[in-house]
Amino acid sequence: MTELWYSIKRKIMSLNDNFGVKMMRVALGADHGGYALKEELKAYLQNQGMTILDQGTDSAASVDYPQFGFQVGSLIRQGDADFGIVICGTGLGVSMAANKVPGVRAAVCADPYMARLAREHNDANVLALGGRVLGADLAREIVDVFLRTPFSGATRHQQRIGQMAAYENGISGKES
Ligand code: RB5
Repeated sequence: MTELWYSIKRKIMSLNDNFGVKMMRVALGADHGGYALKEELKAYLQNQGMTILDQGTDSAASVDYPQFGFQVGSLIRQGDADFGIVICGTGLGVSMAANKVPGVRAAVCADPYMARLAREHNDANVLALGGRVLGADLAREIVDVFLRTPFSGATRHQQRIGQMAAYENGISGKES
C-alpha cells in the first residue's frame, strides 16, 4: 500500500473515533487459559458497537490452543475480520499458531507501549494476550491502544514487513 493510502487511513481513524470503531470486525479466539478474558473483552468491544466474530472456546474446559489461532488467523487472511485477538494462558502458544497463517502478523503485547508499536511499526493484525498474565483493566487498555493506532506507513517499516511477506511467499511457493 502506498504512503497516500496510509495517510488517508490515518485521517479517517482520527476524524471520528466512533465511526472507525463501529465499522470494525474483530475476531476473537481463546483456549481455556484465555476464556474468561475473551468473554470480558467480547462484552467490552460489543458495547462499543464493534462486530465480534467469536471463534470460541465456549467454556473453561481444557482445549488445545492452536485451533483458535488458526481460526482467527484464517478470518484475517480471508478479509472477513479487520483485526484478531487471540488469548491463551500467556499469549505465546496462540500467537505462534496464528502466525502460521500466511499474512498474519500476530504480536504478544503485555502493555500499551508494545501494543502501540505493534501497530505503528509492525502493522500487526492480530493481538495476542495472556489471560493468566494480565488483569482485565490492563487488557482493555492494551486492546484500546491496539485497535485505535494506525500503521505509521513509514517506508522503512513497509520495507521490513515486505521482507517478511516475501519470505513467507517464497516458502509457500516452494511448497505448492
Ligand atoms: C494451557 O495450560 C497453556 O499452556 C496455554 O493456555 C498457553 O499459555 C500456551 O501457550
